[in-house]
Amino acid sequence: MATKSELTQQLGVVAGFADPRVDLEQYRTPPELAAHLVHTADLQGDIEGKTVFDLGCGTGMLALAAALRGPAAVVGVDIDPDPLSTARENERRVGTASPVAWVRGDVTRAGLCPDGSTTVVTNPPFGAQAGNEHADRRFLETTARVADVSYSIHNAESADFVEAFAADEGGSVTHAYAAELDVPRSFDFHKQDRRTIDVEVFRLDWT
Ligand SMILES: C[S@@+](CC[C@H](N)C(=O)[O-])C[C@H]1O[C@@H](n2cnc3c(N)ncnc32)[C@H](O)[C@@H]1O
Repeated sequence: MATKSELTQQLGVVAGFADPRVDLEQYRTPPELAAHLVHTADLQGDIEGKTVFDLGCGTGMLALAAALRGPAAVVGVDIDPDPLSTARENERRVGTASPVAWVRGDVTRAGLCPDGSTTVVTNPPFGAQAGNEHADRRFLETTARVADVSYSIHNAESADFVEAFAADEGGSVTHAYAAELDVPRSFDFHKQDRRTIDVEVFRLDWT
């Protein structure tokens, strides 16, 4: 298995959103965070030989990280066709051994029917934009339906919400860790060139 830093390096070529949409909270998951999440998942036995769904895949960062670790299949789903084109180009750049199926669809409505033992990886919209409130909850609802195990990124102080949601849906939090999400200036209302957001990553067992 390649090391986490080798994975981070491989993901360094993944291009960001060409024309990011604020309403869909489009920003690229940093390679370091994607590599950490997928490396951790792989060590838990949740990637190799599994069907992996990246919900809200955007540039494909998490799906591509998974595709470098011997999954049975990888599917990236996003509502916006533009980042899916970027994700296809990123797949060529990264040169993954396993192909990724890129699917346009609304994660909160699509009738996803996974085949085999399924791991969801997702950096969902946090629901920070007006009109998009509780977007992370809707992503978790789909996750609970399709996943055996999931890894999701949430803004800091989401632990109570995630734990309560999982308990209601028959799942449980098995691991959680804090991380930083480094986001470059993408939108006019961003005041700084970069900003760092505190986030938490949760592993949820839905079986
Ligand atoms: C924070 S970004 C995740 C980015 C991705 N992990 C990456 O590194 O590029 C959230 C993504 O969710 C997508 N999205 C938002 N609402 C969606 C929905 N209802 N169904 C599918 N995708 C959605 C956005 O288009 C965006 O690409």
